[in-house]
Amino acid sequence: MRILVTGGTGYIGSHTVVELQQKGIEVIIVDNLSNSNITVVEAIESISGFRPEFEKLDLSDAQLTADFFKRHAEINSVIHFAASKAVGESVEKPLMYYHNNLVSLINVLKGMNENHIHNFVFSSSCTVYGQPEELPVTEKAPIQIAESPYGNTKQISEEIISDTIKASDLKGIALRYFNPIGAHSSAKIGELPLGIPNNLMPFITQTAIGKRECLSVFGDDYDTPDGTAIRDYIHVVDLAKAHVVAVERMINNKMKLNMEYFNLGTGKGSSVMEVINSFEKTTAEKLNYKIVGRRTGDILKVWADTSFANIELGWKAEKTLDEMTLSAWKWEQNLNKD
Ligand code: UFG
Repeated sequence: MRILVTGGTGYIGSHTVVELQQKGIEVIIVDNLSNSNITVVEAIESISGFRPEFEKLDLSDAQLTADFFKRHAEINSVIHFAASKAVGESVEKPLMYYHNNLVSLINVLKGMNENHIHNFVFSSSCTVYGQPEELPVTEKAPIQIAESPYGNTKQISEEIISDTIKASDLKGIALRYFNPIGAHSSAKIGELPLGIPNNLMPFITQTAIGKRECLSVFGDDYDTPDGTAIRDYIHVVDLAKAHVVAVERMINNKMKLNMEYFNLGTGKGSSVMEVINSFEKTTAEKLNYKIVGRRTGDILKVWADTSFANIELGWKAEKTLDEMTLSAWKWEQNLNKD
């Protein structure tokens, strides 16, 4: 049995590959390396002791993707991470986002159908809920009009998968991630943002290490206890483990519906200031930050109701915010050790 992990050299993909391998599952990675580095393959090997097979491939190329599937009859499940993920960039380059994220998905699903591969796990996002009316947000919450082309690609992708499932033997699990942060305990893999980070955690670690001068906290006048926005931060290793559980659920025919959706979060919201405070406490670093205006498009607060994932998948996020911020720091330090 072999699992194809698309985007397997990326942030969440690489952590998932390690968790799969540690369960004895053989992995083949495809990635176009547009937002990741080939050295991640070695890093994965040095953690797990197994070198995953790697193929550089752009899944938006229909012919190359079809050929890839024909050459790999041993694949029995696919975890599909490969996609562009920068919200701001997607607003500037909508066609690139729709092309890259949707065409690759379609090519992968075609390849699976043509080669009778039935198990598909998809990287979705809590962005599909927008600003939910009720918190914590359950999987039954209404899908809101997307704030960005990126968010829209996640919504449309879920629909493409669901429609494909209705018309074929495919089974799918959409995992809706909240805010993944942190890094592997080995500090050998972690988040590798290109250029100036958009996300909070890499901006914090890069500021503390001296790559950025100052963290801007986007707004302290929200209707939250300390005025800063609230998210459900989840350790990337906890998130990675959920993918192993999801793929095992499919392989062992435990699914209740042919398309299932799960929230992957901790169930606990933390404000931007709480993340900063945790970082300063666990690392004993003083962070240079200033309060600035709100960022356009940001929601006020969101955190997950994780009970469905906890009960149905038998999975629960275990790591604390302090473990997340400390592991992110160790990774940043390791990146800059020379
Ligand atoms: N923030 C700052 N300063 C920064 C960066 C972020 O104050 O320099 C704040 C944001 O305003 C927000 C929080 O930190 O309140 C988290 O911001 P991130 O950019 O890390 O994460 P988002 O919740 O905005 O976005 C994430 C993913 C998206 C996904 C979205 C779903 O990055 O891919 O969750 O809600 F669409």
